[in-house]
Amino acid sequence: MPKDTITIFDTTLRDGEQSPGCSMNTAEKLEVANALVELGVDVIEAGFPIASPGDFEAVQLVSQQFGDRAIICGLARCRAEDIDRAWAALEDAERRRLHVFLATSSIHREFKLKMDKSDIVRSAVDMVSRAAGYCEDVEFSPEDAARTELDFLCEVVEKTIDAGATTINIPDTVGYATPAQFGSVFEHLRKHVSNIDRAVLSAHCHNDLGLAVANSLAAVQAGARQLECTINGLGERAGNAALEELVMALGTRSDYYQCPTNINTAKLFPTSRLVSNITGMKVQRNKAIVGQNAFAHEAGIHQHGMLQERTTYEIMKPEDVGYVGRNLVLGKHSGRHAFRDRVNELGYALDDTVFQSVFDDFISLADKKKEIYDSDIAALIDNRIGDSLSHWQLVSLHTSAGTGTIPTATIELQCEDEEIRRDAATGDGPVDAVFRTLDRITDIEARLEEYEVRSVSKGKDAQGEVLVEIVVSGRHYHGKGISTDIIEASAFAYLKAINKAFADVTAVADLQSAPSDT
Ligand code: KIV
Ligand code: ZN
Repeated sequence: MPKDTITIFDTTLRDGEQSPGCSMNTAEKLEVANALVELGVDVIEAGFPIASPGDFEAVQLVSQQFGDRAIICGLARCRAEDIDRAWAALEDAERRRLHVFLATSSIHREFKLKMDKSDIVRSAVDMVSRAAGYCEDVEFSPEDAARTELDFLCEVVEKTIDAGATTINIPDTVGYATPAQFGSVFEHLRKHVSNIDRAVLSAHCHNDLGLAVANSLAAVQAGARQLECTINGLGERAGNAALEELVMALGTRSDYYQCPTNINTAKLFPTSRLVSNITGMKVQRNKAIVGQNAFAHEAGIHQHGMLQERTTYEIMKPEDVGYVGRNLVLGKHSGRHAFRDRVNELGYALDDTVFQSVFDDFISLADKKKEIYDSDIAALIDNRIGDSLSHWQLVSLHTSAGTGTIPTATIELQCEDEEIRRDAATGDGPVDAVFRTLDRITDIEARLEEYEVRSVSKGKDAQGEVLVEIVVSGRHYHGKGISTDIIEASAFAYLKAINKAFADVTAVADLQSAPSDT
C-alpha cells in the first residue's frame, strides 16, 4: 500500500463494547467482525482476552474466522499472564497483533498504579519484549499519553521501540487534548525520539470534549499513520473517534491530507446500522455521515441549489457512504431480481436463507403498503439479521384493548426444538399486556428500561420501528422490531431482547439460581 495510506484500526469490539449497555455476545461480535472485514478495516481489535472467558472466546473465534482477511489484535496489560492469554487467543489468526498498554501520566502513576517513572519504563520494556518474543507485530500504548510529560513520553516510546514495539499508539484516554496541542505531541515525538522511524505512529482519541475526530486528523497532519476508532463513535463515556467520520474526512479532503484509506465507504451506512442494532445504541438523526438526516435538504434555497448543481450544497454523495434514504424504490410488482439488486446496492451481503426471509417479509409488506422505501428494506433486513440465533419465535399474537375493556394479550411462541407454548395476560395497555405475556411464557423476569416507537418511512401506512431496552439479572439487553402494527413490532422487539438475555449464559445461570420471588 502507498506509504501514506492510513491504517484503520477498529476497536468497536473492545473499546466500543466497553460503553455502558453495549456489551455484545460472541455471535454478535462475529457478525460485527464480518462487517468490519467487508468494510475493509486493516486491524480489528477483537477484545481483551484476559478480561473474561467470553472475551477470550470472542478473540479466538474472530481470529479463526477472519484472521486471514485483517490483522486481529488482542489487548493486554503489562502483565505476563495478560500477554500469554492474549497470544493464546490469537493463535489461529494468520495475521495478528499483540497490543500492550501501561499508563504513563503522573496522575495514573501516582494514584492508579503507585509506580514511579523507572518502574513504568521497566515494566513496559519487559512486557513489550515478552510480546515481541511471540509476535512480530507489537503495539504499545502509553495510556493517558496526552497528559504525560513530553520528555517522559519520549523516553518510554524510545525504549519500547527498542524492546520491539512496531506501532506506538498515543491515546488521549480521557479526551483532554485539543487539535493543535495533540498534533504537537506527535511532532515532538518525531523530533526527539531517535528510533521513531522504526515504528508506525498511531492516534487513539476519546470524545469527551467532542474533539476526537479533530484531534485524530491533527495527528495525521503531524505524522500519525494509524487511526484507532469505532463504528458510530461507540466507546467509554462520550465514545471514541468515529470511524466513518475519519474515513470520510480523509477521503473528501484528500486534496489536503493526501492520506487514503482501504475502506470501502459504501459499506459505512450498513455497518453503522448493524452496530446500532446489535448494541441498541441509537445513531442521532443529525450525526455526520450515518445519521438519517445527514443528506436531507429541507430548506427551499438548498433544494433549489441542489437541483441546479448537486455540489452547491453537498460535499459527499449519499451513495458513496451507502446512505439509505427515503427514496421510493420498489412496489408490489418488483420481482426477486430487482429486490436482490436493491439489497446489494444498499451494501448488504445476505446469505440465501436470510435473503429468502427478507424477501418473504417484503412481499407481505407490499400487500399492506403501496410504496416501499430504501429505509423499509433496511429495516426488514435489520429485523432478520441474527434470527437464526433466536431461542423463541413469535407464532401468533392476539390483543384486545379499548375504552372500558381490560387490555389482554394472548401469545403463542415456538421454543427451539420444542412444542409451541401459549399464555395470556392482562396489562395497563396492550403493549404492557404483550410484555407480561412474553415474561410468563419465557419465564424470564425483565424490567423494561426504555421503550421508543418511530416511523421507518413516510405516510400513514409506514412501518413502525420499536426499540426496547430491558434489564435481566442486572444486565441490559436491546431489541428492535418492525411492523406496520406497532403492537406486533413491540412484541418482536421485546422478544429479541429476551432472546439475547436467554443466549447470555451468565444471565441464564443467574436466572436459574435466583430465588423464585425475585
Ligand atoms: O483509551 C485508552 O487509553 C485505551 C488504551 C487501552 C489504548 O483504550
Ligand atoms: Zn480508549
